[in-house]
Amino acid sequence: MRTKTIICFVFLLSVFIIVKENKLISKVSDKLSPNPQPPPEADGHWIRFRQNGFNMTLSNPAEPLYEYSSQRLVNTTKSDKEYLPPPSKANGRKHVLLLATTRTGSSFVGEIFNQHGANMFYLFEPLWHVEHGLFKEDGRTNMTLLASSYLEVLRQLFLCDFSLLESFIKPPPQDHVTTSLFRRGSSQPLCEDPVCTPYDKKVFERFQCRNRRCGPLNFTLASQSCLQRQHRAIKSVRVRQLETLRPLVEDPRLDIKFIQLVRDPRAVLASRLVAFPFKYKNWKDGATDSEIPDDQEEEKKLIVNCDNIRMSAETGLKRPAWLHGRYMLVRYEDFALFPMQKAAEMYQFTGIPFTSEVKNWILKNTHASSKVNVIYSTKKNSSQQMDMWRVTFPFKLAQVVQKVCGSAMTMFGYKFVESEEMLRNLSISLIEERTFL
Ligand SMILES: *[C@@H]1O[C@H](CO)[C@@H](O)[C@H](O)[C@H]1NC(C)=O
Ligand SMILES: *[C@@H]1O[C@H](CO)[C@@H](O)[C@H](O)[C@H]1NC(C)=O
Ligand SMILES: *[C@@H]1O[C@H](CO)[C@@H](O)[C@H](O)[C@H]1NC(C)=O
Ligand SMILES: *[C@@H]1O[C@H](CO)[C@@H](O)[C@H](O)[C@H]1NC(C)=O
Ligand SMILES: *[C@@H]1O[C@H](CO)[C@@H](O)[C@H](O)[C@H]1NC(C)=O
Ligand SMILES: *[C@@H]1O[C@H](CO)[C@@H](O)[C@H](O)[C@H]1NC(C)=O
Repeated sequence: MRTKTIICFVFLLSVFIIVKENKLISKVSDKLSPNPQPPPEADGHWIRFRQNGFNMTLSNPAEPLYEYSSQRLVNTTKSDKEYLPPPSKANGRKHVLLLATTRTGSSFVGEIFNQHGANMFYLFEPLWHVEHGLFKEDGRTNMTLLASSYLEVLRQLFLCDFSLLESFIKPPPQDHVTTSLFRRGSSQPLCEDPVCTPYDKKVFERFQCRNRRCGPLNFTLASQSCLQRQHRAIKSVRVRQLETLRPLVEDPRLDIKFIQLVRDPRAVLASRLVAFPFKYKNWKDGATDSEIPDDQEEEKKLIVNCDNIRMSAETGLKRPAWLHGRYMLVRYEDFALFPMQKAAEMYQFTGIPFTSEVKNWILKNTHASSKVNVIYSTKKNSSQQMDMWRVTFPFKLAQVVQKVCGSAMTMFGYKFVESEEMLRNLSISLIEERTFL
């Protein structure tokens, strides 16, 4: 009898969960249905974004009227025949996009721009909201839609317009104010005056500032602060293909530079095993018996990941005309070994002055002797930490990675290990000297 009751209860619970999930999914698809109602404050300035049927109307008070098609920028007040690319309007303003994948040390490297000072507007992983807004549990996330949404959100953010990003935030911001911007505290300008409004004890902030308490984030203030700062930088681990960002290069309002950060995929996997043990349960369990279970799902993910990184890097290193002078590849390991030199090179590449604030931050944070092991911690003795994964990482897993990520590893100059001894012997470097540019 009791078993029956329990079965009944579990059944009802799962029905409840399924109904809730469906509601969530339909809410997301409602949001993406064509022709959303324009927000009321738009006062005649409109950008219409139309790509592959994805039709979204956006307000952008900071910029004149444009219409975007997938590859070019059209002044809607002219007919197509009269179209001429408008002259560059970036006026010495630089836009930096730091591209990486998870566990490559991108939070750490991103700080190089976050710490720049009063002339830089830095945003940490704004695309998190886009990914979570469009993500489908059943694996049927529309990748085309995802990529074009990333592109348009990035374009707007570089122009200090948060409206499209706002449409992805849950719960939706009220009067352009939110308590839920993902890891707000990692974007310094969002925690400084005047964007840091007085703290309100009654409001629960999901993502808080690091060094002070601030009130909910007002995007109007954030946008004003962004417009006042000379340069803009965004870090993202979500863009899969550099090629999809080509329209940013062709947008005359932007002077964009891409920095792609890569890291030894064996170290990345080792780091993921520690950070997300449940995701890699099969591999982890198997790995302890030094027998790798045949986990095709994980292997497939690894292949896709490595392929994306390699393809983006190939695009960049081929130096196609459209990308010329706008792409730089940085290996995390080089940064960890010579942080000051690498940071200087990155700044030189972007054309932004390398400030004493950044230098001081590097001095303070790359010689910290305490071993901090917080998952997203950026404070560490970077050269010492760099090789730690080799102490415990199963040799068999290293072989799997070398098998599926071999061409990316060769391209970036990561040496294969041929034996467990070679993996464990830290006096053997696994990094070949390379310069990329
Ligand atoms: C994915 O999105 C694109 C762009 O909005 C659309 O053209 C395409 O039909 C969508 N594909 C699926 C399978 O829904
Ligand atoms: C896109 O939106 C505009 C303005 O709301 C509308 O005129 C047009 O028909 C829409 N296009 C599609 C394909 O839904
Ligand atoms: C768009 O075209 C109109 C009419 O030719 C012109 O007045 C306006 O300056 C143009 N805007 C831009 C940004 O080129
Ligand atoms: C957000 O900031 C703007 C600009 O200062 C202000 O006008 C607006 O009232 C603020 N919004 C809220 C909800 O406080
Ligand atoms: C950081 O690690 C390197 C390499 O192990 C070591 O030489 C250096 O002394 C360490 N620095 C500090 C402050 O612990
Ligand atoms: C580690 O490698 C170095 C350089 O190849 C070698 O001289 C040393 O004997 C090795 N150490 C061990 C413990 O195998």
